[in-house]
Amino acid sequence: REGVTLVPVVVHVVWNTEDQNISDEQIASQIDVLNRDFRRTNPDADSTPAPFLPLASDARVTFELARTAPDGSATNGIQRRQTSVTSFDSDDAVKAEATGGLDAWPAENYLNLWACPLGGGLLGYAQFPGGPAETDGVVILQSAFGTTGTAAAPFDLGRTATHEIGHWLNLNHIWGDDGTGCSGTDNVDDTPNQAGPNTGKPAFPHVSCNNGPDGDMFMNYMDYVDDAAMFMFSTGQVARMQACLDGPRSSIGT
Ligand code: ARG
Ligand code: ZN
Ligand code: CA
Repeated sequence: REGVTLVPVVVHVVWNTEDQNISDEQIASQIDVLNRDFRRTNPDADSTPAPFLPLASDARVTFELARTAPDGSATNGIQRRQTSVTSFDSDDAVKAEATGGLDAWPAENYLNLWACPLGGGLLGYAQFPGGPAETDGVVILQSAFGTTGTAAAPFDLGRTATHEIGHWLNLNHIWGDDGTGCSGTDNVDDTPNQAGPNTGKPAFPHVSCNNGPDGDMFMNYMDYVDDAAMFMFSTGQVARMQACLDGPRSSIGT
């Protein structure tokens, strides 16, 4: 696609305890982050190390809470329910009313986001393009959602959703998902081959897999570093996301 794609978003808030019923304001703060990160207008963009600056790119995707529901009625793009489930996991139970969650809206027209309690230290998970419509979208731990309210450091800058929506648009983890080996690939040519995930706030450069002198592109949204340490997509990643919007997700957005 040329230009900027606007993606309608529905947020399904599935809560057990009152505090998990995150506010409209917290939801708005997440949409704001996405609109900065996917246009490279994020305030920390200039923290990108000089050698990687030429590769840092505008993904040309924006997001807005849906204003029209699947039945044509007006909506604020936010659905809520209380559940007896104290904590969900990656089995997709949160994506169906029958299992304590909320049903997806049609995946060909909406990006479905679920905000809920998650167990096992999971911050979020995503479905790649090509999967069943009923489970399409992204699940985010309520305390890693947005930048205000229940958002908790070091995952309180909304970057879990940025990372997971990267997967939803067909991006792989930057280290190639091969443990700490050097044989995996993220299917992107301009990201350096990298051994394993980076965490926390690494110091530049961090060299692995003979990728010196600049080392890993650990400040990429598709690594595992803290929210404050990730601030770019590469040109090759943007091409892959745009190919997804031209291909398996061509029905989404305007
Ligand atoms: N799926 C990853 C996890 O649950 C998300 C990592 C997001 N990273 C971040 N800094 N927010 O661990
Ligand atoms: Zn991931
Ligand atoms: Ca690569």
